[in-house]
Amino acid sequence: MPAGIIAGSGLYDIADFETVELKRIDTPFGEPSDLYRIGRLNGHEIVFLPRHGSPHRIPPHRVNYRANIWGFKELGVNRIISVSAVGGINDRLRPGDMVILDQIIDMTGGSRKNTFYDDEVVHVDFTEPYCPELRQFLINAAEEVDLKIHPSGSYVAVNGPRLETKAEIAFFKLIGADVVGMTAMPEAVLARELELCFAGIAVVTNYAAGISSKKLTTTEVIENMKIANKHILKLIKQSLPYLHKERKCSCKDALKEARL
Ligand code: HPA
Repeated sequence: MPAGIIAGSGLYDIADFETVELKRIDTPFGEPSDLYRIGRLNGHEIVFLPRHGSPHRIPPHRVNYRANIWGFKELGVNRIISVSAVGGINDRLRPGDMVILDQIIDMTGGSRKNTFYDDEVVHVDFTEPYCPELRQFLINAAEEVDLKIHPSGSYVAVNGPRLETKAEIAFFKLIGADVVGMTAMPEAVLARELELCFAGIAVVTNYAAGISSKKLTTTEVIENMKIANKHILKLIKQSLPYLHKERKCSCKDALKEARL
């Protein structure tokens, strides 16, 4: 089974990735952000999708998350690694740091299409929004290549596209958020609804609003993400052999007893 990689701001290509096919997928939910790039990375089958399209043109609140995740499933992917740029809220985090996310606080406010089950009653368990097994693969891989990562962290998902106010970030800090970003929701829950394993590598591209006195800029986000690219790739490459193992987590059974 191929593994999926979905990446956002500042990571549009994977060095050494050999593209075998560019595939357009039509889904019942509309068009994904781009053609899926199917190919090989260090001999491993990978499907890559740039979340914001190429060139980067789709803002986070307009991404067709349902189509993107559906397309991966249709291509036979069962594990997805999602890479995203985030603002650092936790004082221990610095620009350039990588966090293997373990929790999410959804502040997108219900404005996004966040389920495949609009006409059926389905409640998937989301206690652990990221696949524990896939997270552990990434943590192991980081250790093997001596890459410093933060092995856990809570992501607060906001709708955007504006950045946050100082008071909002102070509030998010108070409720336990470590990083802030605009894409983990509904991506993570949609993967769960299709019984796919999903892990998130968050790359701190800036201090969140009010954490430092500097004005936030999109230029800073993209530049820091580009600097981090080689570390992200190192981590992903080292994790590749793990991604084809048989799944032992409960993601593959997410719909069992979830339907009314
Ligand atoms: N806020 C929200 N989303 C982001 C940020 C931020 O500070 N940095 C990168 N994505």
